[in-house]
Amino acid sequence: MNVHDPRPPGASGLSVRDLAVNYGPVTALRGISLDVPRGAVVTVLGGNGAGKSTLLRAVSGTLRFQRGGITSGEVTLDGVKLSGAATSAVVARGVVQVPEGRRVFARMTVEENLRAGALGARDRRSAAEARERVLELFPVLAERARQRAGLLSGGEQQMLAMGRAMMACPEVLLLDEPTLGLAPLMAARIAETVREINAQGTTVLLVEQNAAMALSLASHAYVLEVGEIALSGPAAELAASDEVRRRYLGVGGDAGDPPARPDGAAVRRPALSRWSA
Ligand SMILES: Nc1ncnc2c1ncn2[C@@H]1O[C@H](COP(=O)(O)OP(=O)(O)OP(=O)(O)O)[C@@H](O)[C@H]1O
Ligand SMILES: [Mg+2]
Repeated sequence: MNVHDPRPPGASGLSVRDLAVNYGPVTALRGISLDVPRGAVVTVLGGNGAGKSTLLRAVSGTLRFQRGGITSGEVTLDGVKLSGAATSAVVARGVVQVPEGRRVFARMTVEENLRAGALGARDRRSAAEARERVLELFPVLAERARQRAGLLSGGEQQMLAMGRAMMACPEVLLLDEPTLGLAPLMAARIAETVREINAQGTTVLLVEQNAAMALSLASHAYVLEVGEIALSGPAAELAASDEVRRRYLGVGGDAGDPPARPDGAAVRRPALSRWSA
C-alpha cells in the first residue's frame, strides 16, 4: 500500500453500515448493513416499495434529487466514507448507478448517449477504450449507433443504459432491476452481460425482483422487506431454502402475516413473484 493511500488496511469494497434513509417524514430504510466485497456480485432482493432503489440512491449520492436523505449510518468504499459526497465525487471514485426504468436520452442517438456516459472519463484514450469494450459487450449498440435511442426496443434501451454507465469505467456498478419488463430471452442476455462485466473485474451490486436470475449471478444475497433486511446469506443457500422460497419468493403456501412498515403503517407483504424466470 502506498503511504498516501488513505484506505485502512483490510477494508476492500463497498460497505453500508446501519443506514437509515428518509423522504421527508417517511422512513424508507432503517438499520441497513451490507457488504459488497471487491470483485463480487451481490444482490438485494425485495418487492415493490421495499427500498431497493432507495438503497442504490444512498450509495450513488442521488437521494437529494428525490428529496431524500441519509438520517444515520454511512456508506464506505474501501473503508473511506462515500456517503455525504456529491454524485460527481461518487462517480469519480468509480461507483456508477444504472437507474431503474432504463432511462436513456430518447432524442439523442445511441452514439451520443454513449458519449454522454464518457464525460467523466479521465482522458480521450480511456474514453475510446471504454467505447470499444462497451461495443464488445453490446454489439447491437454498434449496429444502431446512429439510431435515435427512443426507437430502440426495451431490451436494447437497457443495454444502452448499461453501456452508458460502463463508459465511465466503473469499479462498482449499481444496477437497478435491469431485467424488469423484459422477455425471458432478453432478460437472460442481460444476465449474461452482467456476468461478463463482473468477469472483467467490475464489482456489481444488483437490485432485482427477478430472484431466480439474481441468485444465479450473485455470491451473496440480502432480502429487503419494507425498509429492513429480513434475511441474508450466500446466494446458493437462499436459493435452496424452502423457507426462503415459501416466505420471500412467492413459491407455494401461506405467506404469513404482513410485516409492519418502519413508520408503523400496515402494508401487504411484498411477494417476489418472478421466482421462476
Ligand atoms: N421520492 C420519494 N419521495 C417519497 N417517498 C419515496 C420516494 N421514493 C421512494 N419513496 C418511498 O420509499 C419506499 C421505498 O421505495 P423504493 O423506490 O426505494 O422501493 P423499491 O424497492 O425500489 O420498489 P420498486 O420495486 O417498486 O422499484 C416506498 O415506500 C416509497 O413509496
Ligand atoms: Mg425501485
